[in-house]
Amino acid sequence: MAVAAGALPAADLFAQGTTSDVRGAKSLRAHAQLRGLLVGCAVVPGKLHGERDYADLVGAQANILVAENAMKWKALRPAPDKFDFRGADAILAFASRHGQKVRGHNLCWHEALPDWFAGTVTKDNARQIFTEHIRTVAGRYARKLHSWDVVNEAIDTKSGRPDGLRKSPWLELIGPEYIDVAFRTARAADPKALLTYNDYGIEEDSAEQTAKREGVLQLVQGMKKRGVPIDAVGVQSHLSASDPLPGAGLREFVRELGRMKLQVFVTELDINERKVEGSVAERDAAVARVYKDYVTMMVAEPNVSAVLTWGITDRYTWLDAPKYARPDGQPQGCLPFDANYEPAPAFFALRDALDSRRSNEQ
Ligand code: XIL
Repeated sequence: MAVAAGALPAADLFAQGTTSDVRGAKSLRAHAQLRGLLVGCAVVPGKLHGERDYADLVGAQANILVAENAMKWKALRPAPDKFDFRGADAILAFASRHGQKVRGHNLCWHEALPDWFAGTVTKDNARQIFTEHIRTVAGRYARKLHSWDVVNEAIDTKSGRPDGLRKSPWLELIGPEYIDVAFRTARAADPKALLTYNDYGIEEDSAEQTAKREGVLQLVQGMKKRGVPIDAVGVQSHLSASDPLPGAGLREFVRELGRMKLQVFVTELDINERKVEGSVAERDAAVARVYKDYVTMMVAEPNVSAVLTWGITDRYTWLDAPKYARPDGQPQGCLPFDANYEPAPAFFALRDALDSRRSNEQ
């Protein structure tokens, strides 16, 4: 049946292909490496070691990995006096076999705290427990990691505090200096990892996200002024296909960080399509377009050096959890590979975007 060009589904804007078209020299990691970029994804250790297709895909596509949950407090700290490094170690072992770097995520967050936390950590012992955790965890992986998300999501412009800090347990137990303490402790334990502040909701040009971006900038500027060791900012990039694309505000933020000699990593990219209507092909195309435009914009900035997606296959995306799922209950297509490990239009869009990076020699 003939279809007028203008009526072609937008999905046709992005090349389609099958698994064989995306391996080896055609993989994300090969394309990224040619341009001096890191590309990768969040991973689950049990699947790396227990699921052949998953492991193959991660090995083939990524040159950097990050633990989706395995390096958070809840995973590492079964009891106040115990550390369990099995999952984290398994990720490092896999990465080393596949010539991949690893990011640490994270040393400090208001979520994923162990169940014993509330009954055990008090104002009297918080600082000691906090620094001991950072020393032990960052020390164990010292000189083995590309970077650490030292502090995750510390800004909350709705907290009503003039400094914009989130009312996290760490703020309440230690005070606002917990951030500086975390970075200084991490640096002492691992002089090599790039120490990163990581946050979400700082991508778009809306009033709310513009204000949060400003809050992050102020935090980082303050740290620099105080001589706190920080090397990078992570822009999580949990984006929505139905929102306006990030643009000038984020670009200027990245450049400002560049003037401060800070790197920027896209740390948790995925594009939810929960509010997008239409056929699966149309939804895939909407997601792919955001991958293409967003990553092209980001990698055009020379201080953006890594792009990680939050997972690699739609089969395991956190975005299908009830809180974030589509109202019609259909699974979301938000990552480069679909639920059957076939490349989605997002894969080709992401690869094209990596290709747009100007090499350093130019
Ligand atoms: C998410 C994981 O993907 C989920 O599996 C888990 O249940 C909750 O945390 N910002 C972050 C990540 O920094 O650590 C979060 O990961 C997603 C939002």
